[in-house]
Amino acid sequence: MLKDPSKKYRPFPPVALPDRQWPNRVLTAAPRWCSVDLRDGNQALAVPMNVSQKLELFHALVKCGFKEIEVGFPSASNTEFTFNRRLIEERRAPDDVWLQVLVQAREDLIDRTVESLIGAKRVIIHLYNSTSPAQRRVVFGKSNDEIKAIAVNGATMIKDRLHRLKGTEVMLQYSPESFSATEHEFAREISEAVMDVWQPTPRNKMILNLPDTVEVAMPNVYADQIEWVCRHIKNRDSLIVSLHTHNDRYTGVAATELGLLAGADRVEGTLFGNGERTGNLDIITVALNLYMHGIDPVLDFSDLNAIRKVYERCTGMRVPERHPYGGELVFTAFSGSHQDAIKKGLAEWEGGKSKHWDVPYLTIDPNDIGREYHEVIRVNSQSGKGGVAFLLETEFGISLPKDMQREFGPIANDAVDKLGREVSGAELKEMFWREYVERTTPWQLQGFETESRNGTVKCRAKLLRDGKPVEFSGEGNGPLAALVHGFSTAGVPRFEITNYSEHALSAGEEASAIAYIQIKRGDGKLRWGSGVDTNIELASIRAVLSAMNRL
Ligand code: KIV
Ligand code: ZN
Repeated sequence: MLKDPSKKYRPFPPVALPDRQWPNRVLTAAPRWCSVDLRDGNQALAVPMNVSQKLELFHALVKCGFKEIEVGFPSASNTEFTFNRRLIEERRAPDDVWLQVLVQAREDLIDRTVESLIGAKRVIIHLYNSTSPAQRRVVFGKSNDEIKAIAVNGATMIKDRLHRLKGTEVMLQYSPESFSATEHEFAREISEAVMDVWQPTPRNKMILNLPDTVEVAMPNVYADQIEWVCRHIKNRDSLIVSLHTHNDRYTGVAATELGLLAGADRVEGTLFGNGERTGNLDIITVALNLYMHGIDPVLDFSDLNAIRKVYERCTGMRVPERHPYGGELVFTAFSGSHQDAIKKGLAEWEGGKSKHWDVPYLTIDPNDIGREYHEVIRVNSQSGKGGVAFLLETEFGISLPKDMQREFGPIANDAVDKLGREVSGAELKEMFWREYVERTTPWQLQGFETESRNGTVKCRAKLLRDGKPVEFSGEGNGPLAALVHGFSTAGVPRFEITNYSEHALSAGEEASAIAYIQIKRGDGKLRWGSGVDTNIELASIRAVLSAMNRL
């Protein structure tokens, strides 16, 4: 890298808009959305989608609720043309969905594009040409007027061919491509020249798409550019102003949100932000950001995992683990303090104590988009007792007493640390079983019988101690008290039971009850034990032995 980057790069000139309005506005409604997955997204793939992949993705987009879908660049290849024809001839598009197609300002391409649309119910014909100084100079070697003439000729050729689309409702769209790198006065001039040809009216609007083809400045600059055009262009009420951002500086979402504040009506983008270079705008993120503020996004992402699967299958791309809303890890907490806060927040929400969602670390309820709570808390060496207890409880219905969590948490943590990786709920249960339930030395239960008379319980215990049989009797006000008494008669140092709880295990478990018992020795040493049995009394006896085996 250069010591002095200013020798090679220059600052982006700000827009003179001292009375800019957008910073004081808030968004209150969703924009019109247009998916460009099948065009901009597709043209960025190493292996573009075939017709059947495009069909599958098209249907998924319709299911999400998109009403405007840029289906391709029909003059670019046979696949693209055939795809259009299949959509139309097989009547695959619902009547309220507009099929959008992109075309450059060339006669042969426009002819082929119009041909691809014959018989469709509703279409948007999208004309573009590049307008930035670099494109004008380096790529085309043309003056401003010559660039304007390209747009005007293209617009005229399209207009002249509309009679071929009888019975089809047609909307027209123009993009001064590389708008954000174009002088805004020239962007206005060329857009107005196209408007002069198409003659939009408030009842018959055209779409003016203002692309951030390559992000060249901060998102506030794009917002200024959008507000400047919205305020200075003629016949604003005859236009649907549309945003189309890319993500070169990783601020495509921010640019779109600020662009909406600046007065735009419509947003183009793709699922999960697939698109050229760093991608197009991710529509899912903008939609769910609105949802998070209580605004209906008018798109349905309630099964985001399913949408992700279709997207990954059709495009061959992968959604990164940290991708907003859809990424594998974005509703997951490994850190103990985060887990604890989430657990408390979820408990408050489920208890109906707060009216609006306010769970720490979770911007929206993962359930709303088909993600589940159990993926929220995952356990690795960063996790604390809270996460361990949460997984045991949610996955297996094992509800450890608070104080026992304090004992088992560090034991599990040490084991996870040694493994050096994340562990599943099943692995934690195995650790718990090994540590408590399956302990059989020195004490192992062989038989336990009780009889009760006048409030006194007498027990007879048959045990093994280091493999050798031991038998004793005892009595007390319950089976546990009788067992403790019996141990003392057998010469075992005295201990008392200081904590006890039990509950049924969830259906499908191999046993029906689990007991947790804490014992305290004469020297004050405390230990937890746990026992599992189909008989609740035996579960608690086993729990006492488990605690003794851990002394
Ligand atoms: O990024 C872009 O400018 C485009 C245009 C064709 C709208 O994709
Ligand atoms: Zn684009």
